[in-house]
Amino acid sequence: MSQSRLGEAHHPRPQWKSRLGFILAAIGSAVGLGNIWRFSYLVYDNGGGAFLIPYLVALVVVGIPLMILELGIGHRMRGSSPMSFAKVSRSWEWVGWWSVLLVMYGIMLYYSTVIAWCVNYVYHSFTLAWGADPNNYFYNEFLQLSSKPFELGDIRLPILLSLSLVWFLCWLIVYFGIQKGVERANKIFMPLLLGLILILVLWSVSLEGAAKGIAVYLKPDFSKLSEKKVWIDAFSQIFFTLSLGFGIMIAYASYLPRKVNIVKDALIISVGNCIFSFISGFAVFGTLGYMAMAQNKEVSEVVSKSIGLAFVSYPQAISLMPAFAKTFGVIFFSSLVIAGISSAISIVEAFSSAIIDKFNYTRKGVVTFVCATGFFGSIIFSAKSGLYWLDIADHFITHYGLVIIGILQCIIVGWIYRAGKLRQHINKVAPDSLVKFWDACVMYITPAILTFLLVNAFIKEISSRYEGYDMAPLLLIGPVWLVVVMIGSLFVAMYPWKKELEDLEHEHE
Ligand code: TRP
Repeated sequence: MSQSRLGEAHHPRPQWKSRLGFILAAIGSAVGLGNIWRFSYLVYDNGGGAFLIPYLVALVVVGIPLMILELGIGHRMRGSSPMSFAKVSRSWEWVGWWSVLLVMYGIMLYYSTVIAWCVNYVYHSFTLAWGADPNNYFYNEFLQLSSKPFELGDIRLPILLSLSLVWFLCWLIVYFGIQKGVERANKIFMPLLLGLILILVLWSVSLEGAAKGIAVYLKPDFSKLSEKKVWIDAFSQIFFTLSLGFGIMIAYASYLPRKVNIVKDALIISVGNCIFSFISGFAVFGTLGYMAMAQNKEVSEVVSKSIGLAFVSYPQAISLMPAFAKTFGVIFFSSLVIAGISSAISIVEAFSSAIIDKFNYTRKGVVTFVCATGFFGSIIFSAKSGLYWLDIADHFITHYGLVIIGILQCIIVGWIYRAGKLRQHINKVAPDSLVKFWDACVMYITPAILTFLLVNAFIKEISSRYEGYDMAPLLLIGPVWLVVVMIGSLFVAMYPWKKELEDLEHEHE
């Protein structure tokens, strides 16, 4: 059989220049806005140090097995997520489209908007523009938040401008391809990000009162472990933070050379990402501890929920800094921008590679189309109602979309392709690296846990309206949109491939 049938006839598959380049790019995708503020807030809200227990359990029973699965199948099939699944079975190709479409025209639309906010806040740090009341500044002056989701209001021009910058950067990086674009950007971004975060951590922990904040961060409250919500939060955070179910790791692994140690790389990426979160927690809580002391308050009184942690609590802390406050602000928000962009480019790449695989268009054209449509789609999130849209879309995609995709991946790879076969492929390159227990994870344990989470989330959903929003926006931005994208995926999947897929089944055996 020909080696280069589907999608490779005209464009040879790109490859990473080095293993380090691949690992940095994968970590770049995993480490994002979610690691810095979302993780810290979840820890705080879910019993301090005790949250690390469900978090580690989630990492071990769902995170690492799925990371190995995604890297393994992408490497085995040498294709983006739709192509990889299509090679397993043509009737499951749609799952691949569903995952990349959900993330590209869902998560990415609001994620790019949050990066745009961070760009604005880098700029505002120079003047400490939020003044004495960062809460009022963020909601009423910066976002000018309307009163409900369907009261769109105008587009916020400063946000729109930064948004176009964010999309331009994504376009610029991915346009130049894997080696010259994605790999090179990450080789600059990742060391830079690590450096900036370490400066923030050292700076924060040396502030007066920092120890008090860190004690709150790490002090375990074991009674919380009996709450279901704590476990659901831990598992969905692992999904989001490791970019699982996004189709990203599959695409990134498809650019690997034949000889790689998938298991080792999966461990480095997953554990590296979580260590990064853990370390940045010290910067966040050290600073909160200082702020509490400076205002003579308890730490619990100065923490605000989720988005507010980065855009309200942190600016407040920055204003109170004894010295170099502006520098501190610039470093903090720049780190968020860098972490965000390196994640954002990974979905632009994963989605573009899916289109290139299927339709055989040129990379440059595809990337331009993807970024242009992404930019237009994200404009709605820069309207005055943007925060509500973000909140609803995020809730439904992360609690349902990604989890359902995780279950489907376990079925497709574990049962249809067969876990044992993929394990053999992985072990062929790196003998004995993957133990048989992984099969049990992928076939039974992981899907069972994910199903349990899904059912529980659903029960909670129907028992109360999420955050008390009106029914219409909840349905339209949430489930209706998920289903529309799913139907769209079925249609794209029905479209014929440029080349015969069966020929590829035995490629690389
Ligand atoms: N893992 C990222 C985080 O923790 C999220 C992420 C990765 C992402 N890739 C993405 C978000 C692509 C949007 C688009 O923040």
